[in-house]
Order: sequence, then structure tokens, then C-alpha cells
Amino acid sequence: MQHNIPRPAIFHRSGPLRGIVKVPGDKSISHRSLMFGALAVGESRISGLLEGEDVLATAAAMRAMGAKIDRIGEGCWAVHGVGVGGLMQPAGALDMGNSGTSTRLLMGLVASHRLTATFIGDASLSRRPMGRVIDPLSMMGAEFNASPGGTLPLMVTGLVPAIPLSYRLPVASAQVKSAILLAGLNTPGITEVIEPIQTRDHSERMLRGFGADLTVEVAGDGVRHIRLAGEAELKPQTIEVPGDPSSAAFPIVAALITPGSEVTVTHVGMNPTRTGIYKMLEAMGADLTYTNEREVGGEPVADITARHSVLRGIEVPPEVAPSMIDEFPVFFVAASMAQGRTITSGLDELRVKESDRLALMATGLTAIGARVEERADGLVIDGSGGEPLEGGATVKSALDHRIAMSFAVAGQHCYHGVTVDDVSPIATSFPTFETIIGALKS
Ligand code: S3P
Repeated sequence: MQHNIPRPAIFHRSGPLRGIVKVPGDKSISHRSLMFGALAVGESRISGLLEGEDVLATAAAMRAMGAKIDRIGEGCWAVHGVGVGGLMQPAGALDMGNSGTSTRLLMGLVASHRLTATFIGDASLSRRPMGRVIDPLSMMGAEFNASPGGTLPLMVTGLVPAIPLSYRLPVASAQVKSAILLAGLNTPGITEVIEPIQTRDHSERMLRGFGADLTVEVAGDGVRHIRLAGEAELKPQTIEVPGDPSSAAFPIVAALITPGSEVTVTHVGMNPTRTGIYKMLEAMGADLTYTNEREVGGEPVADITARHSVLRGIEVPPEVAPSMIDEFPVFFVAASMAQGRTITSGLDELRVKESDRLALMATGLTAIGARVEERADGLVIDGSGGEPLEGGATVKSALDHRIAMSFAVAGQHCYHGVTVDDVSPIATSFPTFETIIGALKS
């Protein structure tokens, strides 16, 4: 899972992108399908699972803790769960690779099971802050032994029975929310997460789908109170994973910036906690149409068609950030080729993703000729007015899949293309990325 051999790649300026493509399954939903399936009693069936390295790390960890997980076809998996409370002591360390979601959610699961687990990961994951989950899970009784700064490698020993908690999230994070809810599954009584700013709600939707007693109350001030009754019994499910709106954003932005393009991405998840990128692109004048709108496995889904558009700079309201948190790198690419100025703020969280995404995007975009000012909590970008950027530079991806894909998209509309120093991290979330972009060019 470690990317020891960097794979550089050059992305040339291209003619129109045209065609209909399908992106892999949603990463957040894929992780949760495996975890919740592994905690149900009986066999769950999953189709459309993202078979990227991050999700495979979750599968390996759930197997190491006793679940039986089999791949039965392309994207089709069978999970035989052990039941809530039934996870077993893993024989070795759990290697989370590059995956923050696997790490934080599984720390929650382990926290209320009678076992000790050691979490390790790659250089990027080993820099990321885990204190945000260690704090609430310690209050529930779990014991942690982390590396300095609250990072991986770290060891967790769960407590049975764990202590139920009511916790107000200090940071808008679906991973922290989900870690607490997962710990709450095997905790007697009610575990409550108070969420002042809404983040993706896949855990809530899916836990209810698996039969957990979970309620969401939205107070007058808009603050969400999510309450889960512990010692839950989860029933196995058949899950169809929708396409990942975060992955779909790459071919869609590529089409928007490349003259003459028209690209349709089918079967894209349209959960409103995930679609901020599309709303903001539309606010910039993007020609996006949604067809075949339907519901799949409790999630809204649509086909999205993007046609080349001359985009106009906007100011992105900071409250939109959680619904497009993973899409800012590719959004910055769109902004760098728009007319006028785009202003973003309130994005401190981007500094603790797979890389410092504000710094990496500012440096890389500047190197290919964009006009970017890096601020503490956002970027201010003066666009090229639809003209190609100069390009010709080599940019760093720093073990960050979304940085690699964002610059691959930028290369589409640069006079001299863009070289990405290492595209191997793309395999964590979108293994078919290069094939799909290639197919749209031909
Ligand atoms: C995720 C939550 C987000 C997101 C990540 C996936 C999830 O992280 O960036 O890619 O599946 O819960 P944060 O909780 O750190 O915002």
C-alpha cells in the first residue's frame, strides 16, 4: 500500500473532451458499507464498491478483526458480519495506508470493543491529527498511546462497557462524528453528537438503514442533535453504492475548462451534504444539467452533463465548505481559468488533509502561471479569463490523490501541459481516473 516508487506523468493540453463515463463508487459510503456490514449479523451484499486502496485498507482491517469479506465480482462484495461487540483482537498492526477515514472511524469501533489495536499508515497519514478523535473516545473510556503530537503510529485499547457521551463537535468533521457514533454502537445508553455545522450524513442514513435506533433532531438554531441507542443490533443489508461526487468533479471540471467539451458522468451521488462543488460551479456560470434523477439505496443520484463554459469568479461563502471540502483543489483549478477574482476563506481544515492543500495548490498553480494569493484560511485567485495557463512546470502531489488529479485536469488547458511528479496516489480513491480521462479525449 505504500507508494515507494513515484510515477511521474505529463498531462498535455487537449482538444474537446466528449463522452459518457461512470466514476467509481463513493469512498465514504464504501468504507461504511464494509464497516457496518462487518457489524451486522449475517451476510450483506455490496455492489458498486470503490475498489481503491483506501477502501481495501478498511476491508483488510475488518477481516483482521474477524469479519469474513469476499470479493465476488467487479465491485461486488459479500460481508459476513460478526455482530456489534463481536470484533476480535487483530494479530498484527492495522495498516491504514493513506486513509484518514479508515483510521478515524475504526478507532471509534475499537474504542468500545475488548481489544487493543495498533494503527499505522504512510508518511502523509502519519502527519495527520488524531487528537480530534482521541479526545472524545478517551471520554468514553478508551485508552490511547499515540506518537508525539497525537499522530500515528498509535495504539488503542477499547473499554467494555464504554461510557456513553454527549459531545459537541469542535470541528466540522464527519469523520469525528462517525467515530463517536461507531463507538456508541457497542455502548450502553444513548450516545449523542451535537453538530453545529452539518457535515456529510452517510453514517446517519446508513446506520438507520442497518436498523440502528438513531434520531436526528434539528434545533431552532440549526444545530443537529444526533442520538444513537447503544448495544445496537444491525441487520444485514443489500447496498448499491452510488458514484462518488468527489471523483465526478474531476472529469466535470475538465469538461468545463476545455473548449468544445461535453461530458456526462452517470450515476453520481447527489446527497446535498456533498454537492457544494456543483452549486458553486453553477454560481460561476457553469453549464451543468442533471438528468435521470432517482434514489439509490437511500441516496439521491443523477447523471450530470457538463459543457464547456466561461466561468466567472465568485466569493465562496465559508458555510458551504463542508459540502465541498474535498473538492477545493479542483475548484481552485477552475477558478484559475475563470474571468475575474475568486475568494475563498474558512478553509483551515484543508491544511490537515492528505497534504496541506492550500499550500500545495497555491505553489503548484503559481508554478503553472496562475495568479494566486495564499492566505491563512483560503486562496484568492485571479483567473486567466478562459485562456490556457502557461504550464510547463512539474508540480508535487505529496502523497495526495486529489492534488495529483487536480493538476492532471489543469494540464488539459495549459499551453505546455503539466507534469505531476507522482500520480501513484490516485489509486487510493479513483483507480480508473487516467483511463476515463483518456477515453474522453479519443
Ligand atoms: C470523510 C469526511 C471528510 C472528508 C473525507 C471523507 C468521511 O473528512 O474530507 O475525505 O467519509 O467521513 P473530515 O471529517 O476530516 O472533514
